[in-house]
Amino acid sequence: GKSGYDHYMRKEIAEQPRAIRDCLRGRVEELAASVSLPELEGLEEPSSVQLVACGTSYHAGLFGERLFQRRGIPAQTFVASEYDAGSVPVDEDTLVVAVTQSGETADTMQALRGANRAGATTLAVTNVVASSAAREAEYACYVRAGPEISVAATKSFASQQVTLSLLASALAGPQSHEFLRELRRLPDYIQAVLDRSSVRDLVGELLDADAYFFVGRGYNAPVALEGALKLKEISYRHAEGFPAGELKHGPLALVTAETPVFALVSGREHTAETIGNVKEVQARRAPVVAVTDVPETVERHAEFVLEVPETHPAVMPIVANVQLQLLAYWLANALGRPIDKPRNLAKSVTVR
Ligand code: M6R
Repeated sequence: GKSGYDHYMRKEIAEQPRAIRDCLRGRVEELAASVSLPELEGLEEPSSVQLVACGTSYHAGLFGERLFQRRGIPAQTFVASEYDAGSVPVDEDTLVVAVTQSGETADTMQALRGANRAGATTLAVTNVVASSAAREAEYACYVRAGPEISVAATKSFASQQVTLSLLASALAGPQSHEFLRELRRLPDYIQAVLDRSSVRDLVGELLDADAYFFVGRGYNAPVALEGALKLKEISYRHAEGFPAGELKHGPLALVTAETPVFALVSGREHTAETIGNVKEVQARRAPVVAVTDVPETVERHAEFVLEVPETHPAVMPIVANVQLQLLAYWLANALGRPIDKPRNLAKSVTVR
């Protein structure tokens, strides 16, 4: 059941601290600063990584790509339906990672099968034990989010982000002690957002809008895309996400007083540039909502601030995303949408 919540989506958002604890359990040796994923026994550091996925899982892939790149492993993410293993060179040193909650998405399975045929080493990062992806990939690593009923992916995205964080650390060696320590604290940071988020009070002021834009840089860029997808999927409002630096290359023409802009601002990376982008939309009178771990720095550039705890720059976006999940949920709720079953969409997309 929904454990007293009105919707599965709300319940699944609330389950994230637990889901992440399950995902981390037995996998992180904080003192030794090491990660162990016994299911990947025999898998060596690849010469490059290709991630294939759809929708929300694609956004998790983009997040993972950045983690691999920072650790010196070239990585690239593909929308699964656009992936062609025949034209992107792969060999056995190429690790192709299919990221899929259900493990049954037809586009992702097609990409995975192509990678298998082309001789790549393949890995499924999935939530469903013994799913098609888990069976057909050479290796499987489970995200352990637990059953996700709502069509909108929420806790599975957080668990994918954490699993890819562990994977990158396991394959390339952790970059910093701090990163693993902060991953361990992530459930508490998310709980703090769940307990204190003011986003519900904000949606009333944002209901009348032409469109909603989401921007972020670096690790936050995929979360900007995800924030927009979640909002459009369940509220039916027009929403778009961009890397913040892209605003001035086109989207800025759409920015008016009727287009709220959600800006993800990390206090540790790209802070000044992102605030620079925020000023550009502010000058066009767009209502700015900053999601940030440095509220004092951002305050005077934003109409509203949604605070998240200060943490490692690769962990902050996982927490910030929870504010955007709650935003989508409460906005769709205010509009009376059928949140768990949005029109035209299915939980598992088994057609190509
Ligand atoms: O099961 P998968 O992760 O392969 O599903 C991929 C997409 O269909 C899925 O993430 C979709 O975008 C969600 N409904 C988004 O909330």
